[in-house]
Amino acid sequence: MSGGTALSGRVRVTGAKNSALKLMAAALLSPGRSTIDEVPDILDVTIMSEVLRRLGCGVEYAPSEGGGGRLVVDVPEQPSTETDYDLVRRMRASISVLGPLVARCGSARVALPGGDAIGSRGLDMHIAGLERLGATIISEHGFLVATAPRLTGTSIWLDFPSVGATENLLMAAVLARGTTVIDNAAREPEIVDLCAMLTAMGASIDGAGTSTLTVDGVDELRPVTFSTVPDRIVAGTWAIGAVMTRGDVVIERAVATHLRVVLDKLADAGATVEVLPEGLRVAMSERPRGVDVVTLPFPGFPTDLQPMAVALAAVSTGTALITENVFEGRFMFVNELVRLGADVRIDGHHAVVRGRERLSSAPVVATDIRAGAGLVLAGLVADGVTEVQEVHHVDRGYPRFVEQLRGLGVQVERTRRPD
Ligand code: UD1
Repeated sequence: MSGGTALSGRVRVTGAKNSALKLMAAALLSPGRSTIDEVPDILDVTIMSEVLRRLGCGVEYAPSEGGGGRLVVDVPEQPSTETDYDLVRRMRASISVLGPLVARCGSARVALPGGDAIGSRGLDMHIAGLERLGATIISEHGFLVATAPRLTGTSIWLDFPSVGATENLLMAAVLARGTTVIDNAAREPEIVDLCAMLTAMGASIDGAGTSTLTVDGVDELRPVTFSTVPDRIVAGTWAIGAVMTRGDVVIERAVATHLRVVLDKLADAGATVEVLPEGLRVAMSERPRGVDVVTLPFPGFPTDLQPMAVALAAVSTGTALITENVFEGRFMFVNELVRLGADVRIDGHHAVVRGRERLSSAPVVATDIRAGAGLVLAGLVADGVTEVQEVHHVDRGYPRFVEQLRGLGVQVERTRRPD
């Protein structure tokens, strides 16, 4: 890709990856055909489809031109209950079938995910919560094996508002006997989306979007048709890209309330941010000012946009301090950014970034989805042609990424098909 072009034009965001994958898992909670719209056309959806197929579901996906699509899941009366390592290893979110399976089938055998490129990611809160709900959980031969003839409502306090644990426990609690209260629950828009789908299926959930979720268990749920919430991380990536390149972009379907801190930071950097009926407009005419960023669970600054925040600071004026509070190891991509000429010093979970007028092109390697997107944004403001290798990581989170970049005026080509 060639650097130096200001992003300009319109771009449309599809449903959120991080919601769609959980909505697919939630479909397991009822026999019959559920339909999920605005499901992004990305590898992770293909992997989750395979997880569901191996559990005995029929899955059909019809992508649309814009990169979203309709997914129909046909869930049998008695799904199988095992998810293998070959799938969990390819996508950690596969473990979100654990809660629904144990709630609906009384048992589940799901491979343990192991580590990944952004640090060790525990499952202790998923396990402790399911145990509180009455499941017996053992770990054997690389699998978590959970059994519970019927889960029973209880009160659960999460040590940290983990997105994955909140989702798994929510999906378990909706079919438990009695009332479950999950305290210190995650409040991300994707959790609210999951609550909305479960409610449409017949679940009784109070407090979606707050730290306390109260779930009155029901005996059974019904299939639904549901549309996935727009992807705030993809929207935020385009917003930051517009600011870095001093461009002007309308991000269709972006929801301002899902990006409040991000948009405030961009305004602090000097950007014009406008809420439109169809989404958001972000425009920038001068070199951005450096702004400090601290990642936190929602409504804080999302950790998934931290690499883009570092890339932004790398071309802003002054010095910015970026603090990562959610994932250890999420600064590993910084070495690649430094290859593009960025001035970044890491001290524990802080990055001190001294802004430079421009970066300088080089071959770099994407290590995960979001790091890859951050490197692509950096490439947009680097002199010359930047080659981002292992770009298949980025494809996992950004449907039609190259086409969308082109639509915004960037000269970019894919030199090898995605793996
Ligand atoms: C989800 C998102 C990911 C996002 C993250 C935080 C998906 C597929 N992924 O990941 O893109 O970056 O939320 O917004 O939706 N932890 C424990 N024990 C647990 C659970 C979590 O220690 O039982 C720790 C993790 O190691 C991590 C932190 O809690 O340090 C946050 O993890 P969590 O919120 O669970 O993120 P994920 O659901 O894995």
